[in-house]
This record gives sequence, C-alpha cells and structure tokens, in this order.
Amino acid sequence: MRFIIKDNQDEASSYAASYIIKRITQFSPTQQHPFVLGLPTGSSPLDVYRILVERYKAGEVSFENVVTFNMDEYINIPQDHEDSYHSFMWKNLFSHVNISPRNVNILDGNAPDLEAECIAYEAKIKAVGGIDLFLAGVGEDGHIAFNEPGSSLASRTRVKTLAYDTILANSRFFGDNPGLVPKMALTVGVQTVLGAREVVVMVLGARKALALQRCIEQGVNHLWTLSALQLHPHPMIICDEDATLELKVKTVKYFKDIERVARAEGFDQILPSKIRTGPSVKPAPATVVVNGAHSPTITSPQSTHSHHLLRPSAGIEYPIRSRSPSPDFTNDRMSSRIGDPALTRRLTPTPGQQSRQISGPSMSLRALAAGVSAVSA
Ligand code: GLP
Repeated sequence: MRFIIKDNQDEASSYAASYIIKRITQFSPTQQHPFVLGLPTGSSPLDVYRILVERYKAGEVSFENVVTFNMDEYINIPQDHEDSYHSFMWKNLFSHVNISPRNVNILDGNAPDLEAECIAYEAKIKAVGGIDLFLAGVGEDGHIAFNEPGSSLASRTRVKTLAYDTILANSRFFGDNPGLVPKMALTVGVQTVLGAREVVVMVLGARKALALQRCIEQGVNHLWTLSALQLHPHPMIICDEDATLELKVKTVKYFKDIERVARAEGFDQILPSKIRTGPSVKPAPATVVVNGAHSPTITSPQSTHSHHLLRPSAGIEYPIRSRSPSPDFTNDRMSSRIGDPALTRRLTPTPGQQSRQISGPSMSLRALAAGVSAVSA
C-alpha cells in the first residue's frame, strides 16, 4: 500500500491529478489501445477534476483516447437530474475536456433491466481490456463506490441498497433532505475495483478519519469495504492531514518515513510497468540510463490475481537511481504497538538494546536467550 499524506486538500488533489496525467502520458493511448480510467463522484475528486481540466486546457493532457467507466449511479433519478452522477460527471469533467461521449460509460439507473445493465457493464470493462487506473473516494462508513458495509468483497457490478450513513451524508446534495436521496443505486463491485491495474483513493477531511483508520490500521473487513484495498497489488491512498486524525501518530510517521526514504533513494515513482504502459512503448531495456549512467534494474514479482491482466505481463522494472544521503527512519518498531514486553523480547534487539545486552552484567545474550525460552515455555 502506498499511503501519501499531504498537508491539505489542495496538495492531495494536485498530487492525484499529476499522478493520473503521468499515467495517461506514459501509456501513450491510441484509439485502438485507449487508457481506461475508472472514476468516482462526490466531493473528494472535485479538485482533481478541476486540475485535470486546467491542465487539459494548458495542453498537458489529452482525453482523446481515454475511455472512462464511472463507479456508480442512483436508481430512478432522471439522467438530467442535477444530482444524477451523469450530470455530475458532465458538469465537472467531461464537458470541459476532449473526451468523446462514446468513450464515456456510466451505469444507467433507469435501465429497464437493471441486472442486464450490470452484466453488460462488466462485459464492457472486460472487452476494453480492463481498467488501467481506478480513482475512488470513500464514504464516511468506509464504503468504496456504493459497496456499503457488509458488501461481499467478491462482489461485481450490481444493484445495492444504500446505508443510512450514506443517505445522511449525501442528503447535502438533495437540499439536506434525507427523504429525497434515492435509496438504491447501481454500483461496481469490490472485485470490479480490485480488478483494475491500479487503484488510487482520495481520502479528505476529518469526516473520513475513522474510515481511513479502519482501512489502514486494521484488517480486511466487509464492514469497511475500502479495507479490501489491502488485497490489491498496486493500491495508493492519498489523504490530507485532517483525514489522519484517528490514526496513531506512529502510523502516520511510519508511512511518511517510508515515502521520504524511498524518494531519497530515487524511487519517487516506482510503478511504471510494462503491464500498464501502452502499445507504443518499447520493451524496457535490461539497463536504464539515469543521469547518463547505466544502472541495473530490479524485476518485481508479477501480480497474479487481477482478472483483467490480459496484456503480456513482463516484469516491472524499477530503476536504481543515483543515491542522495538517506534520511534516517524514525526510531519506531511494530513491536511498540504490542503492550506485552515478553513478546517484544523475542525480536531482534535495536542496536542500543543490543550493546546494553552484550555489555551489561545482568543481560548477557545467554540471559536474553533464557528469557526467550522462559517466555515460549
Ligand atoms: C458516494 C459515492 C462514492 C464516494 C462517496 C464519498 O457514496 N458513491 O463513490 O466515494 O460518496 O463522497 P464524498 O467524496 O462527497 O465524501
């Protein structure tokens, strides 16, 4: 899991927009081989969309060969209703960029046969070769798309009843009247999202802090469906400081640390892989040129669980770049999360502990070993 913590919403949104632009550009999409982008609605992606529009107008990105699939849509509100997700997407993104309407896919909540609509949506995603990058938000109750608490983590596109939390949260778009919020929606499933080659989730503001805590610090749980992201090979959460309110300080420090160290080691963007690059990109060489010098590459393990990895899958090559002095890690160990000192004694001592144990009369290595066997007895 890459977990990017930015100081505020502006920085988080700008990071996400730049990331998406970089992915589209690296892919070099063509009409025959478009970049397939999954998209959410809600307030979380609004600034990302605004920045994408600005940067499209500045000539930095083109949507000509981008195909989109939206996450969800309410059932039984007209498409031209101002709060339908169709209206939302055209108002905030599609009308302002050069995307072709035939490349836009949004579930039809008024389809005569809703089940057939969902099956056709999945088939269409498969037919274009799967989703390259799914951008997402998260609900206050930890839902992704409209996969409400208790949704199957194996779910695909389907009809879903909305949870009370979601109806309350979304009533702000319906004149603060929960009674006007549709009770049912069509949504991609958790597995539809996990089938994307990459998932990027925006988590902004204190209202999302509990959901974020459940997804980052706890296990995979169908009550917090965003937590299923832990099973994805390339997940990234981008949040602002307010969203970290419920996380342990040491968790925040840990993720900031590993990003900082990776950047200093030259691994700022480590995911450009052949499975996510487009047809015009030549096979990656065995060595890469960095600052004029050839460096060896590391080939990462391949993802095996995505249903949509249809393109030839060669290794992902991570360039080893020239190194700048590495910052120190914060002196924090996972064992500090476990209150039981007997358990932490089984772990490799930190350098400080080690020297105390070796030199100290009462804590020789033998005594340490005795302590370990006493604990394990
Ligand atoms: C709705 C959408 C989700 C979105 C969530 C959060 O439930 N179906 O895709 O993530 O709202 O919305 P917001 O970003 O406005 O908090």
